[in-house]
Amino acid sequence: MTSFPTALGLSAEQAQDVVRQAGLAPSLHNSQPWRFRLLPHAIELHSDPQRRLPAADPEDRELRLACGAALLNLRLALEHAGVRPVVTLLPRLTAPTALAEVRSGGQTTQAPEEQELYRAIPQRRSNRRPFLETPVPTEYRHALATAVRREQGWLHVMKRPELGALEGLVHRAHRAQMADARFREELGRWTGRPTGAVEGVPAAAAGPQPEPQDQWVLRDFSGGEARARVPGKDFEYEPLLVVVCSHHGSRLADLQAGQAMQRMLLTATAHGLAASLLSEVVEVADTREELQRLLGGTLYAQALVRLGYGSPTLATPRRDVRDLLIND
Ligand SMILES: Cc1cc2nc3c(=O)[nH]c(=O)nc-3n(C[C@H](O)[C@H](O)[C@H](O)COP(=O)(O)O)c2cc1C
Repeated sequence: MTSFPTALGLSAEQAQDVVRQAGLAPSLHNSQPWRFRLLPHAIELHSDPQRRLPAADPEDRELRLACGAALLNLRLALEHAGVRPVVTLLPRLTAPTALAEVRSGGQTTQAPEEQELYRAIPQRRSNRRPFLETPVPTEYRHALATAVRREQGWLHVMKRPELGALEGLVHRAHRAQMADARFREELGRWTGRPTGAVEGVPAAAAGPQPEPQDQWVLRDFSGGEARARVPGKDFEYEPLLVVVCSHHGSRLADLQAGQAMQRMLLTATAHGLAASLLSEVVEVADTREELQRLLGGTLYAQALVRLGYGSPTLATPRRDVRDLLIND
């Protein structure tokens, strides 16, 4: 096997680790819509148009969120390897798929806080199971909000009086999506994949089968496999729900929001918290607009995340790191 290409003065092994860590980012339906070009002077991050999800994400907003999340992992992994990353978002490269170009700003030693986030990359996973009722301490909430602000975003922590309206919006969005044959077909294609599949959401990563009385509808990834509820294991009564927001609506803001979301998710992981996303409300245009009105009308809602204390859950598989490379 030929050795892994290198970039930015990294060894082949380091370069491979950096790309592997990037590929551990979350993505809608585990579509992993990213590709990397390694050049001596730069690492380019590109979207993979073959992995678009036009029914759920017609404008590729969530695709850019996922690529932003991969970029944050890439930055942390480069720092871990001693390289200070200098990032240009939406670089003027000829390929229309180019989302970021990362160059070296010289050598660096990773700060302890970033080391913790780096270590959290392989630990983080989407946890769709019920969480404990134990509330998330206030200082952890602050840490999550700080993580988002560090990446030019804003975290709105849903307050108790807002939850009723949000619940209505989530159910409405879910009903709208499930009434759309294109959406159901797309979801079906990425769900309930056989053992050994390296993309899509495996049935083992699905939470309990959704039930109509559920307060917060979680997307059904069971692929038709019956997953009976364990008695007494219902969803937590009062989850911590947060909305990762950006201050603008643009391709650049989506990439920043993806980095902000991932810094928040890694911060949560490092604090022992579990998380899952409930994206239907931000995917359906009119519920997204209503959510934004609920948040005061000036923010762009990018991702709705549920956080809490969860039970262990399996890691979702990823493609081989070599398959993430653009080889010209
Ligand atoms: C933009 C975005 C939207 C997502 N939306 C949902 C969602 O609505 N429901 C859900 O259960 N998971 C959602 N996820 C989580 C993915 O399904 C998950 O990241 C993927 O299956 C990989 O698993 P992992 O996060 O455990 O590594 C979303 C992820 C991203 C990045």
